[in-house]
Amino acid sequence: MERRKYLQIPGPTNVPDRILRSLSKPLLNHRGKEFEKLVDYCVKGLKKIYRTENDILIFPSSGSGILEASIVNLFSRGDTIAIVKLGVFSDRMDSIAESHDLNIIPIEKEWGEAVTKSDIKKVLENDKDKEIKAICLPHNETSTGVKNDIKSISEIIKELNHPALIVVDAISSLASLELETDGWNLDVVVSSSQKGLMLPPGLGIVSISKRAWDLIEKSTMSKWYWDFKAVKERMKGNQFPYTPSTSLLFGLKESIDMLLDEGLENVWNRHGLMTTAIRNSSKAMGLKLLARDKDASNTVTAIFLPKGIKYIDLARVLSEDYNIIIGGGLKKLREKIFRIGHLGSLHHVEVYGIMGALEMALYKLEYEVELGTAAKSVAETFLEDK
Ligand SMILES: Cc1ncc(COP(=O)(O)O)c(C=O)c1O
Repeated sequence: MERRKYLQIPGPTNVPDRILRSLSKPLLNHRGKEFEKLVDYCVKGLKKIYRTENDILIFPSSGSGILEASIVNLFSRGDTIAIVKLGVFSDRMDSIAESHDLNIIPIEKEWGEAVTKSDIKKVLENDKDKEIKAICLPHNETSTGVKNDIKSISEIIKELNHPALIVVDAISSLASLELETDGWNLDVVVSSSQKGLMLPPGLGIVSISKRAWDLIEKSTMSKWYWDFKAVKERMKGNQFPYTPSTSLLFGLKESIDMLLDEGLENVWNRHGLMTTAIRNSSKAMGLKLLARDKDASNTVTAIFLPKGIKYIDLARVLSEDYNIIIGGGLKKLREKIFRIGHLGSLHHVEVYGIMGALEMALYKLEYEVELGTAAKSVAETFLEDK
């Protein structure tokens, strides 16, 4: 019998039925009043999810597109920026910036570690002439399952009275990890539809502070499709300079309603609880985790492959026997780790099932584990939660 797969990769995530149904609505005229009302609703809702009064722009785009758009709008060739590099996606920010001839100061960490306040402090204190225009970093590095303490990094920039903006890749954290755009003074926050917003891929979203607009005014890089100023101008009237992803905006409205009905703090706490259950039960089965507890992401967990077990075999058993799709290690973590995505629409029963299935798959691949270990640990975590 055909069954739905549990898409436990760190995005795209499982799309709830309510959102799927909204995506099949007949299309609207994107120059009409009804569409303008939809855009207005989505922008207001996104501001609540971003926790910001800053401008929000929406593009038909993947996450990488809106990252590149941010680079070409904020900077000019030869500008100096610092980029935190601690995995595949923060490296991507670096290669985008490099391709636009920016002068990059890398802040490198081991893959599996988070950047610290003192790493940033060192770089900013060395910048005697205050040339660094921005610190760019991921909130959540999806390739390692590590979250960065964005609040403390933003604080250190202010404490040092450095003019650098903070540009955050929140692609795998928005609507899943605690994120306070205005409360933490974040200048540019980039995200996309296919992660915590529980939508298919195709929307790139960015929030832009007043300070960031000042820098955008000075940028001399070429852009047309990606021009933030042009999009901002049209979005004042809830329109776009070109044909937007109308169906995805139907979905976005449902996603906003679902997240705000649950309550953003409850969504963040639920992600925290699911993560604790996944981490505790992995440890109970004797598995080793890449990120330390204090740096652990609430949206994706990277787990070392036990000795003698290949990712391809584990992924096959989980998919063929239990309908669960997991992610593998990327680049230098290939064949070293596997990743379980746990963002978006994920609740107690799914986590109980996923970890039980992981235990059975490992058992079938001759990993030594006492059957029932995962279920016991997940149940204990959930029952301890008040
Ligand atoms: C943190 C982060 N940044 C950037 C990207 C790239 O996004 P996309 O694949 O939508 O271009 C991803 C994708 O997983 C991501 O997790």
